Amino acid sequence: MKLKLRVLSCAAFGFFTAVSWQGATFAAEPGDAQAQIKRGQYLVGFGGCNDCHTPKVFTPQGPQPDASRLLSGHPSGAALPEFPAGIIGPDKWGAVTNNDLTAWFGPWGVSFTKNLTPDKKTGLGGWTADNFIKTMRTGKHLGDGRDILPPMPWSSLNVLSDDDLKAIFAYLQSVKPIENEVPQPIPPRM
Ligand code: HEC
Repeated sequence: MKLKLRVLSCAAFGFFTAVSWQGATFAAEPGDAQAQIKRGQYLVGFGGCNDCHTPKVFTPQGPQPDASRLLSGHPSGAALPEFPAGIIGPDKWGAVTNNDLTAWFGPWGVSFTKNLTPDKKTGLGGWTADNFIKTMRTGKHLGDGRDILPPMPWSSLNVLSDDDLKAIFAYLQSVKPIENEVPQPIPPRM
């Protein structure tokens, strides 16, 4: 009888340790994911991604990132100011930008900052971390598409480790998805 009780209590102990062990691993995962997103947010802040990829609101202190359109890229349908002829060249200006830094005019034509939110249709909703890493490592869309145009600083992101790039991607996937179809670049005028 005594022996039986001991066996039972051992079994019970085993059961409880298994449960609490499982509980511990389950609890660790969301915490790790949160830490990864926080690290990504920190790197995105340092990397100045909002300067170019977030439309601005105009305040007495100058243009500030519009928190309601965070990282959604050049606003679809926004009117572009006229491009002054003959101001870009080796002994002239290198590039001109619109007033919220989402459209850039230079020797490469006009580039528009992409929608980095996880919207499936118009943002990075369909991308994987691997797509993002390949793009930043090669400077080509998805690793084998067209060259990414200036002033996207992909070669500065290329020095980051895979873990840091994964953290940036995890943060980008955690922001509010915003539907905003960014126009295709305009080729240079010959
Ligand atoms: C100085 C402005 C500028 C900054 C800063 C900037 N970007 Fe960009 N980014 C651009 C422009 C312009 C494009 C569009 C380039 C093109 O169409 O080829 C772009 C494109 C991208 C793309 C899309 C590439 C593709 O293949 O579709 C990703 C992803 C991206 N940027 C991520 C980031 C991240 C993350 C940061 C911050 C670490 C960042 N960008 C900072 C200007 C910038």
